[in-house]
Amino acid sequence: MGHSALSGTRVLLGVCAGIAAYKAVEVCRSLVDLGCQVTVAMTADAQNFVGPMTFSALSGRPVLTSIFDPNEPLAHTRLAGELDLIVVAPATADFIAKYRAGIADNGLLATLAASSAPVVIAPAMHSQMWENPATQENVAVLQSRGVLKVGPDTGLLAGGDVGIGRLADPVRIVDVCVDILSGTDRGVEGNSLSLEGIKVLVTSGGTREPIDPVRFIGNRSSGKQGTEIALQVCLMGGTATLITTLVPQIQGLFSTSIGDRLTVVEVETAQEMAEAVFGEIDQADIVIMTAAVADFRPARVLDHKYKKSSGPPNILLEPTVDILDRIGHDHRDDQVIVGFCAETENLENQARLKLVSKQADLIVANDVSKPQVGFGYDTNEVLLVTQDGHYQVPLTTKEEIARAVLSKAAEIYRNKTIKER
Ligand code: CTP
Repeated sequence: MGHSALSGTRVLLGVCAGIAAYKAVEVCRSLVDLGCQVTVAMTADAQNFVGPMTFSALSGRPVLTSIFDPNEPLAHTRLAGELDLIVVAPATADFIAKYRAGIADNGLLATLAASSAPVVIAPAMHSQMWENPATQENVAVLQSRGVLKVGPDTGLLAGGDVGIGRLADPVRIVDVCVDILSGTDRGVEGNSLSLEGIKVLVTSGGTREPIDPVRFIGNRSSGKQGTEIALQVCLMGGTATLITTLVPQIQGLFSTSIGDRLTVVEVETAQEMAEAVFGEIDQADIVIMTAAVADFRPARVLDHKYKKSSGPPNILLEPTVDILDRIGHDHRDDQVIVGFCAETENLENQARLKLVSKQADLIVANDVSKPQVGFGYDTNEVLLVTQDGHYQVPLTTKEEIARAVLSKAAEIYRNKTIKER
């Protein structure tokens, strides 16, 4: 027991009113086992799910259940000044809305309002409440203020439905706390990470290779992952240039608050995408090739519509330029090049082969044979493969994947630029 680096660190564990409150018991216990001094703050409704006695017994400290504690009237301001970390698990939609608004009508919210300690929230709620635009906006605002978010995960929910909204695994929540308390950044789910001053070039969507004026060879890429990466770059304080085939589909997805952090360049073919990337790469610190670029295109594009009466056409194909391969072999030493690959078997080996052959710094690999993974879905599960190892990001939203990819890429960038100096 006792993780020496964490001994004596002061953590406030906030518990809100959700079924997942029982899992907060495990978070509390693990933090105590690691040597943290844990104070638990429960909202009044949370006490319908777990009793304060459980937490006071585990933490060895009184539980903050009200802003009006007769024994210590100013507990929240004392605590706020002492804390090294505040973690809220589960964080409900109601709590998130109040916290965003600065409401301080219970011990937990009052302590948050008065504290400058890092904050981690682990949301848990029904999918519809999570996907509600109000909740989404509240979370985005909190994240833009530096609040860290873990989960929610996709899976079985309390009412028997399956969807997004499950509390992240307590082990993962504790891992994030440990990273913050010990001052390390594991590079995953690292919402703590600021991309301030970092320029990221992202490609997204599937290219369209024309056959004639009305037909093209295309692919199923929805562009969701690339769009999410560009969005998260902006929310994490960086600037993004998004080179995409999907300009109409992304209209309205980027709120005006992102303003001039984002530049969008519209392209259609692999060749246009290549030219746009080559034209922009000098300005970029990190390049993320999320796009599904056609490997082959018709060698000749007809300038008139091909007629059915001419019979089935023979379309001769020729290779397109492999953008990732080209930039992987020809970029400044301080730039980070990230590629994606979709595989159906031998994920790690295939990804590592691509890492080496294309000279990339990071390959984000997904096994598209798995359910809910990759093309068209809102969720993904990826393996991040670097020269030093690999890290599995379990099934989660494309937003979380985006943040994991960006954290890892930024970590590589920092290491490179430190060496450069
Ligand atoms: N890519 C690229 N230019 C191309 C083709 C792909 O930049 N002409 C990039 C993609 O954006 C992605 C990565 O390369 O980041 C995918 O690698 P690739 O070898 O094309 O993967 P697959 O198409 O899956 O290749 P294979 O069929 O050989 O497995």
